[in-house]
Amino acid sequence: MRSVKKIKVLENIPVLVRTALNVPVANGEVTGAFRLRRALPTIEYLRKKHARVILIGHIGEKGTETLEPVYEAMREMIPGLAFCPVSTGARAREAIRQLAPGGVLMLENLRRDKGEVGNDPKFARELAELADIFVQDSFDVCHRSHASVVGVPSLLPSYAGFLVEEEVKQLSKALKPKNPSLAIIGGAKFSTKEPVLKRLLASYSRVYVGGALANDFMQVSGKPVGSSLVSGADPKELKMLLGDRKLALPLDYVVAPLGGMRDAGRLTRTNDVRPNEAILDNGPDTLAMLAERMKKAKTVLWNGPLGNYENGFTEGTEALARIIATSKAHSIVGGGDTVAAIGKLKLDAKFSFISTGGGAMLDFLAKGTLPGLDALD
Ligand code: 3PG
Repeated sequence: MRSVKKIKVLENIPVLVRTALNVPVANGEVTGAFRLRRALPTIEYLRKKHARVILIGHIGEKGTETLEPVYEAMREMIPGLAFCPVSTGARAREAIRQLAPGGVLMLENLRRDKGEVGNDPKFARELAELADIFVQDSFDVCHRSHASVVGVPSLLPSYAGFLVEEEVKQLSKALKPKNPSLAIIGGAKFSTKEPVLKRLLASYSRVYVGGALANDFMQVSGKPVGSSLVSGADPKELKMLLGDRKLALPLDYVVAPLGGMRDAGRLTRTNDVRPNEAILDNGPDTLAMLAERMKKAKTVLWNGPLGNYENGFTEGTEALARIIATSKAHSIVGGGDTVAAIGKLKLDAKFSFISTGGGAMLDFLAKGTLPGLDALD
């Protein structure tokens, strides 16, 4: 991976910068600008070198969303930022032609064109034709083999932006923890987390599995899970992982009737979940157990909420954020809800590194690389 710093000539050169613009938006306004702030060092560097900076990125999964609210938020951070309501074609080329050296332009959501997700060579070519150089600074999407992630770098001289470089450096460090170490993996979908669990069990002293992810393990070990979300993972795989003494699971939960509100929740031990109840958060004994382990830990890695964060079961996740924030361990964290909890509590400065990646962070930890990074080679 070559650094953006290695680009020799930038004066008046159009540079496509794949940027992490996929941020939460509510009522037309950005509600979490964490990724946008992290995009600034690369943009500032290119501006100072008088490049013509073209920001490309995506928002949402459906391909219908617009980047306009993101543009409005970034306008406050980048003086004179311009916006083009399409991402390719004559109108985009004209907007780029009008860019002065040091100017910055944001193009519309790449996923509005099906060619982005489908990695259509024609769409990749249309994007590549907009500039002379490509800079990858959207670590969060480097696990996707999309046109702007793997297609464009095969067509243009390509470099890694500062954010991508920092992510790779920090997450590589997380793969070689100082022991005693503790990894905490929450959230749902066993299939996406299984490879990372295996990898972490090989290098961490203790791997705690929380959130809905733990439900599959509980079920296979004969404990009741009521009406909780389970991924339906292969019992053989689960049993194999359960056999590893480094794996730790919840001691207690908050449960509630399915679809219940936070107030309807009750605390219970793991052997007492009623058939109509769902496990919605980890309980205080579990958090006390994690706090105790944290005291000795030299490296702590955390990705994924401990409870159903989106539906208001935030207590366990926020308590964990506070515990890690006060620990002396080198702390590396990531994932949408995890970062949201840390931001809400204004604890960002208390963590050694907060990754902008969710799935990308997990994939990097599982494989040690990503398609979007390999494409820069
Ligand atoms: C993310 O938020 O994890 C990245 O931006 C990737 O988004 P995606 O999961 O919609 O591909």
